[in-house]
Amino acid sequence: MEKIIVQGGQTLRGTLRVQGSKNAALPILAACVLVNGVCEIRNCPDLSDVRAAVRILRHLGCAVERGEDSLRVDARTVFRAAIPHALMREMRSSIVFLGSVLSRTGRAALCTPGGCEIGARPIDLHMSSLRALGARIDETNGALCCTARGGLRGATIRLRFPSVGATENILLAAAAANGTTTLYGAAREPEIGDLIRFLNACGARIRDLGAGTLKIEGVPCLHGCTHRVIPDRIAAVTYMAAAAVTGGDVTLTDIVPAHLACMTNVFEQAGCRIEEADDRLHLRAPERLRAVRDIRTAPYPGFPTDAQAAIMAALATADGVSTIEETIFENRFHHVCALRRMGADITVEGCTALLRGVERLHGAAVSAVDLRAGAAMVVAGLGAQGETVIDQIQHIDRGYEKIEACLQTLGARIERSADSGSTKPEQQFPLRFLPLRYG
Ligand code: EPZ
Repeated sequence: MEKIIVQGGQTLRGTLRVQGSKNAALPILAACVLVNGVCEIRNCPDLSDVRAAVRILRHLGCAVERGEDSLRVDARTVFRAAIPHALMREMRSSIVFLGSVLSRTGRAALCTPGGCEIGARPIDLHMSSLRALGARIDETNGALCCTARGGLRGATIRLRFPSVGATENILLAAAAANGTTTLYGAAREPEIGDLIRFLNACGARIRDLGAGTLKIEGVPCLHGCTHRVIPDRIAAVTYMAAAAVTGGDVTLTDIVPAHLACMTNVFEQAGCRIEEADDRLHLRAPERLRAVRDIRTAPYPGFPTDAQAAIMAALATADGVSTIEETIFENRFHHVCALRRMGADITVEGCTALLRGVERLHGAAVSAVDLRAGAAMVVAGLGAQGETVIDQIQHIDRGYEKIEACLQTLGARIERSADSGSTKPEQQFPLRFLPLRYG
């Protein structure tokens, strides 16, 4: 298994262009199933989650070609409505294909994505919303069998929680439904806005009325378009944390500063000086960060849950006591254990982590338990004394395009190594074959 090896202590300096957004690209790729035409999706990051979405599109009958930083999706030949378990399990968010497949073909067969490391990840809001739009959904042992005889029809839907995925599935199901859908309590993340822009470029009629209310006027069909995916705000904040924890001086380009406002505010409270221009941000960090209290994750425009691990890694060595409350997912503190192994002083009470800043972390062998926790290990390793070896890095590759190359651009001493097998002798040979000295 590959590993990422980080030699800590290098101050990051320089300029880095931030990748396109994973969480915008994935629902837009699912939306291509709705389009009886060809779509060119530009600034599409080359990630394992994106490659999993491409496998689903090809299974459904789409032709997909990868360009330099774009994907060309021809969905005129969609002929399947079932997504096999193996493809669904490759990427948790594949549930977002449900709305578009059901709308395009009138039926859909796939399995529930199930929980993951960060939480149970229920889909009750997806199910209730699609049923409100006229879908019949039978769920048996995790298998979903969905039909929409006579097509989906417009409805009024009120979400009890602004679920990103449920909002996306509603948009995909309602865009070509018969009639108009009014959605109250929609998610307002920038990735939702990007999906709406893509759908409207394909001929949909979606209006954002503000305060989480969307009006979707169903249209008979959608045509192809060319769309550029927005920058990845979570990748951006990860690189900001890497710069901040090393006392760095870094400029990030091809970003949307407004998407980062809540996170930028936290870095400024921690003592960073930040200047923004149209599509770039310049961060200069102090020798040592100041602690920040009362960070609380929330739906957009609040502090994003996806940035929680990275900011924790940066604040573990801040001067003072920081507090971070995770309100979105019930099990999203996996990185705490690894940070403690690196010397962090973190206590967790309920959904709140209390960080007593230590002078310096030290390198250690750690695992990437999930996508954002893995990225947080990279951040922590960059600021630590000594070497940090991170395994299970397939989690990181789901959401970060060439993370080590990006950080090398900024002067980090980081590399990816193909592990030639276990490093502990007993893991290579059963004890009985080991020389006496291991006995
Ligand atoms: C999206 O997940 C993102 N994934 C997540 O990013 C992100 O953390 C999350 O939104 C919140 O911003 C993608 O966009 C691919 P939700 P999603 O539905 O859609 C509860 C990353 O690291 N809920 O807004 O699954 C749920 O349990 C990933 O890039 C229900 O109760 O998030 C959770 O507590 C991780 N019922 C909360 O809502 C439902 O039917 C947020 O979930 C759906 C959700």
